[in-house]
Amino acid sequence: MAERLKLVDLRRQYAPLREEILATIDGVLTDMNLNLGPNTRAFEQEWAEFCGTKYARGVDNGTDALQLALYAYGIGKGDEVITPVNTFVAIVEAILAVGATPVFVDCDPATYNIDIEQTRAAITSHTKMIVPVHLYGLAADMDPILEMARPKGIIVLEDCSQAQGAQYKGRRVGGIGDSAAFSLYYTKNLGGYGEAGIFNTNDDEIAKKVDMMRQHGAQPTSRYLHEILGFNSRLDEIQAAIIRIKFRHLAEYNAQRRHWAGRYTELLGDTVVTPKRFPGYEEVNYVYVIRTPQRDALKAKLLEADIESGIHYPIPLHLLPVTADLGYKKGQFPVAEQYAQEILSLPLYPELTDAEVERVAATVIASVREFAPTR
Ligand SMILES: Cc1ncc(COP(=O)(O)O)c(C=O)c1O
Repeated sequence: MAERLKLVDLRRQYAPLREEILATIDGVLTDMNLNLGPNTRAFEQEWAEFCGTKYARGVDNGTDALQLALYAYGIGKGDEVITPVNTFVAIVEAILAVGATPVFVDCDPATYNIDIEQTRAAITSHTKMIVPVHLYGLAADMDPILEMARPKGIIVLEDCSQAQGAQYKGRRVGGIGDSAAFSLYYTKNLGGYGEAGIFNTNDDEIAKKVDMMRQHGAQPTSRYLHEILGFNSRLDEIQAAIIRIKFRHLAEYNAQRRHWAGRYTELLGDTVVTPKRFPGYEEVNYVYVIRTPQRDALKAKLLEADIESGIHYPIPLHLLPVTADLGYKKGQFPVAEQYAQEILSLPLYPELTDAEVERVAATVIASVREFAPTR
């Protein structure tokens, strides 16, 4: 029996990098410059350059990157922030933390990203921000969002946590909107070995605020003079050093992810609904998400065959207990609600082998045929 195939197996990526990573950590600890040290500073510059922004500020995690962005823009009580319902909960946490109101919209049935026309319809005089999420590694359709936001002074904050290196019409995500938040959690396309995140912006004032807020609201030059509401959310120097090593391989890792995603699509044919590719978009396949009405049975069958799978995400944001007070109802976002019942993420990471991808695809095909013998 083959070994259980994990949904994400980072041990394989670590093995060839091990010596370099251990030597680098040793260097960081020998230097002992751990508070916004040289690796954090260097990575901020490298990341800003990569994304084409003026500033990047390393923070503790992606959720903080979102939350600090909302605070920096002064979003608060009475303000509305538009976000899709089919994403990770972090953005709702950030909106609720600053006392603003999340305004939910459904996802586009083809891209799974924020629905453009619903976003337009959701804008009111209270809308202060739109947060498109580049879900599963595919950029959201940024141009129409920017076109509807700009004349009204609405801020566009990209949530790039699942899309490090993804491109939209030749531009890298994280440098398209007004500002951007990235998780660098260890399972992401680019991540450390723990918690990490980064915030990008071109705005001098916002960059300065985030810089202060991540270190207790003080300017770096006057450490104990706390001027604005602060937090403790600095990118950890050891994580930054690890991330810099992995960053050098990001293009190759993303190309491998795209390769395996393409291979799955080719092998699966029309057995299940597979992710589409769109001209002008270069996706980075953070996860490979298929759809089938027999999702739960398929997940069980895969596990029987020692193949892990995931669901990103099983409950749309408007149906979570934490948002119950907002008054949304089941049935309001039919696309996301249907997809939440049907989506399944198959193992996807750069170090997969062709035999493994074939094994997963063959198991999916055999299982689905068993459920629906006439297909
Ligand atoms: C779309 C999205 N936004 C935000 C986050 C939050 O990032 P973190 O876990 O680093 O706080 C994540 C990942 O976990 C995510 O996938």
